[in-house]
Amino acid sequence: MASVLITGGAGYIGSHTIIEFLNNDLDIIIIDNFSNSKPEVINRIKDISGCKLKFYQIDLLDSSKLDGVFKENHIDAVIHFAGFKAVGESVSDSLKYYKNNIAGTLELLETMKKNDVKKIVFSSSATVYGTGNNIPFKENSSLKTTSPYGTTKLMIEQILTDLCISEPDWSVIILRYFNPIGAHESGLIGEDPTGLPNNLMPFLTQVAMGRLEGIKVFGNDYDTHDGTGIRDYIHVVDLAKGHLKALQKLSNNFGLSIYNLGVGKGYSVLDVIKTFENVVKINIKYKFVERRAGDVAVSIADVNKARDELGWEAKKTLLDMCADSWKWQKLNPNGYE
Ligand code: UFG
Repeated sequence: MASVLITGGAGYIGSHTIIEFLNNDLDIIIIDNFSNSKPEVINRIKDISGCKLKFYQIDLLDSSKLDGVFKENHIDAVIHFAGFKAVGESVSDSLKYYKNNIAGTLELLETMKKNDVKKIVFSSSATVYGTGNNIPFKENSSLKTTSPYGTTKLMIEQILTDLCISEPDWSVIILRYFNPIGAHESGLIGEDPTGLPNNLMPFLTQVAMGRLEGIKVFGNDYDTHDGTGIRDYIHVVDLAKGHLKALQKLSNNFGLSIYNLGVGKGYSVLDVIKTFENVVKINIKYKFVERRAGDVAVSIADVNKARDELGWEAKKTLLDMCADSWKWQKLNPNGYE
């Protein structure tokens, strides 16, 4: 597998994955429309890796330009990150999510088929696991979503499943991410949310920077050791390495496989705040508020399948994640601006 097309390659997980791929001598072609990312990311990827890559600023829905990328380049496989991902926004503007995420993926798959590229890794999410499952979540646990965003992930999983039934020469891997945080050790790339962060870690780093005053902890009455929600936080570089293993598996595998990418260990919101405070040596102001709609109490991955079949395991600790998120934020107080 020598040449890989990355959709949404300027995003948080995409950019970290590209670094790992370039470190392993893969040729990289990125497409991104910068709808939720900045052109500066591409320069940073080049600075960290010292490698060349090809970049196209195009939208997945622009089928003729997308086809042009496949015609201009030899492509062995596709890693499909591109998609909108704000849970709250998907509730208030669901059509935007269905159009972009579903239609964009269909356009990509049709273009791949037309150009005889039939290997793809798709970014799914732990959000597809329904409530009421035993912890940890296994790949065959029951599925149910609580937001249009989550539903787009589940619908794309179904589309890929059906595709592998109707066309057995496709090779598809679905990766279900748990909660990626952290940043590249260089501090040159990291998570740069537009506007007020939705997620815990970017919110904490912005509070520590003094950009935000304090954090609201959504609910302290869950059935957990301290009442706050528990998540399986995974360092984004570990997650990126998981994609490399998935890509290797694609080369000698037909049909569809699904893997959880997490650590297999959960931390509560208060655990994360305390660990983060220890790293940054700053007190984080927080207050308890109502539960956030759609949140589950506990989300932890069963990681046995990824370990056994991909030969992959997350290595980095919550302390590493907090330290690297903080390094990125300190070096880039305003993100990529
Ligand atoms: N939280 C707060 N305050 C905040 C933000 C988050 O208390 O300001 C809490 C949440 O309630 C939750 C934990 O911190 O208990 C983690 O919340 P995040 O928003 O960081 O992450 P989520 O688990 O809600 O969502 C993430 C991804 C989604 C994905 C989901 C899958 O952002 O894209 O995991 O479970 F769908």
